[in-house]
Amino acid sequence: MPKGNLTVLGLGAMGSAVATRLREAGYAVTVWNRTAAKAEPHVAAGATAAATVAEAADAGDVVFVVLLDHASVREHLDPAADRLRGKDVVNLTTTTPNQSRETAAWAAEHGIAYLDGAIMAVPDMIGTPGARLLYSGAENAYAIARPALETLGGAEFTGADPGVASLKDMALLAAMDLMLLGYLQAIAMMRTAGATAADTAAEVEDWLAAMLPYGKEIAAIVDGGTYDTGGQNVDFDRAGIGSLITASREQGVSAVLLEPHRKLLDELAAAGHGASDWPRIIDRLTITR
Ligand SMILES: NC(=O)c1ccc[n+]([C@@H]2O[C@H](COP(=O)([O-])OP(=O)(O)OC[C@H]3O[C@@H](n4cnc5c(N)ncnc54)[C@H](OP(=O)(O)O)[C@@H]3O)[C@@H](O)[C@H]2O)c1
Repeated sequence: MPKGNLTVLGLGAMGSAVATRLREAGYAVTVWNRTAAKAEPHVAAGATAAATVAEAADAGDVVFVVLLDHASVREHLDPAADRLRGKDVVNLTTTTPNQSRETAAWAAEHGIAYLDGAIMAVPDMIGTPGARLLYSGAENAYAIARPALETLGGAEFTGADPGVASLKDMALLAAMDLMLLGYLQAIAMMRTAGATAADTAAEVEDWLAAMLPYGKEIAAIVDGGTYDTGGQNVDFDRAGIGSLITASREQGVSAVLLEPHRKLLDELAAAGHGASDWPRIIDRLTITR
């Protein structure tokens, strides 16, 4: 006896991993993909292929959406709204927080229980404890889908605001993005002295591992809100970043990734905050509307 009927829309790298895991966990899985040939290996393994999104929606009590982006989600869900009424829709497609909220509002209008998901994992990790999946939106949708969600990896409900899972996803990806650019800056600088990228990457990894605990100190300064702990201040950091920029240029390496940091520190100093703890930079990141 299958554990339940699930639908997966989208069989790219991630949708295939999700469909495979759900089927292996004992669910009856119906799949749909724009390029129909991608359903063939799933059918050979025991899934059912649907010819249209509407047909796929009929087959599942919970409908997983793993398409490319917000536009492709709305392109295919909107015409099937009537067939999705009363179902749980779990959208694992990467979207912005506002796009998630927009889809949630659309779902509410059509009587669809909507859960927005964010996958902090690559396809190979799906179904392993290392996969972390965040969900936000309708708590009843989460409760219903939870046994299936827990087969995909660690499942965390992050709140009723449907944009929150996506926001956390984007925030963590932004942190990763800035960190990985740092690797490239160091590699570009060190290769002017003949170091391989591999050697520099190993050194950066050790250095960052040693520095990671400092993140919690930065957070404590921000949460304190006074920026007067007497630690590294804006003026001290301006000198430091100035040296990094000069050293890069001396080696014939652009400082384009470092310059925004100096600009923010200069703005703080100009506003009279040279003696403040440097994490006061966060004030410059907040755009008042
Ligand atoms: N891969 C990862 O490591 C990873 C990690 C976290 C989150 N995600 C998210 O998971 C989602 C899917 O990623 P993926 O890795 O599976 O991407 P992918 O391998 O490039 O697959 C994209 C899927 O979207 C479909 N698609 C694209 N445009 C479409 C349209 N206009 N109409 C209908 N279907 C359309 C493709 O259908 P066709 O086969 O017909 O082209 C395919 O099924 C993305 O939002 C991605 O950000 C992926």
